Amino acid sequence: MTERLLSLKDEVKTELNKCTAIHEVNALKAHFLGKKSPLQELLAKMKEADVEEKKTLGKAINEFKQFVEAEISLKLKEITSLEIQKRLESERIDITLPGKSFAFGHQHPLTKIIEEIEDIFIGMGYEIAEGPEIETDHNNFELLNLPQGHPAREMHDSFYIDPTNLLRTHTSPVQARVMQTSGGKPIKIICPGKVYRRDNDDATHSHQFMQIEGLVIDKNITLADLKGTLALLMRKMFGNELEIRFRPSFFPFTEPSVEVDVTCFKCGGEGCPLCKGTGWIEVLGAGMVHPNVLKMSGYDPETNQGFAFGLGIERIAMLRYGIDDIRYFYLNDPRFLKQF
Ligand code: PHE
Repeated sequence: MTERLLSLKDEVKTELNKCTAIHEVNALKAHFLGKKSPLQELLAKMKEADVEEKKTLGKAINEFKQFVEAEISLKLKEITSLEIQKRLESERIDITLPGKSFAFGHQHPLTKIIEEIEDIFIGMGYEIAEGPEIETDHNNFELLNLPQGHPAREMHDSFYIDPTNLLRTHTSPVQARVMQTSGGKPIKIICPGKVYRRDNDDATHSHQFMQIEGLVIDKNITLADLKGTLALLMRKMFGNELEIRFRPSFFPFTEPSVEVDVTCFKCGGEGCPLCKGTGWIEVLGAGMVHPNVLKMSGYDPETNQGFAFGLGIERIAMLRYGIDDIRYFYLNDPRFLKQF
């Protein structure tokens, strides 16, 4: 009997040696100690043995059991530590390898200019107003003193969606909207946004472009306020030494209307190819809000005055960054965009 146990011990050892996984060890445990194990034979024989034999046999069986348990727990420890080692090996990170580089996106040059201008005006106490890109003919034209058939509508080749709705040709309708709802109170806003005109695209024209328009309405507003505001804007954008000048112009919604030039920041006013030898660069249109516009939106032109201006973002960005073709802004070519 003890021989049988000894050979079983050997069997346990050889079988355990072959195990490489925890489940195999568990199966082995069941095999040697479970219900169908060779031990059962021995236990059955115990019934026939006398008291003395029973004692030694019981002891031997118990010892065998302890032996199996001990061997198994050793093997389990060995396998677990091997597995941990394997995992550490496979998950090892070589910190000397070069890292992955991520391509970061960044702001579009037009967004940069818009935010810069917005910051300047917010610093002067303006609010930012926005409106829809699909506008009514009424807001886009009529409230701005451009009734049906007015010849100045020719200046804005428009995309009509139906007889009363169009893609806005400027951001002035946002100003009209604010005036309509402000109940005759003072206004100080800028309106940035996309606008559309039926132009053929070339280096200086785009059927879609961006504007920022400004509107101030209050008592005692004069052309001098407009000039001071625009001079400050231009100096912040292009340099402290700059002068601005007004040239008479025409817009249906302002009277008087002016075209605003700024000292050429490239040559300082001496004349160069950028300013076509004039020393001045045209940057925007502006004027005092036309009394008809004030009246149509519920302001008494006798007691209220206002100024308005509108500038093209692309034009400012082109001047600022020395870009010679407006189409670059809309091509989304990373080689262009990366430069800003
Ligand atoms: N809305 C005008 C345009 O797009 C620009 C402008 C605004 C001119 C305000 C004068 C005053 O042409």
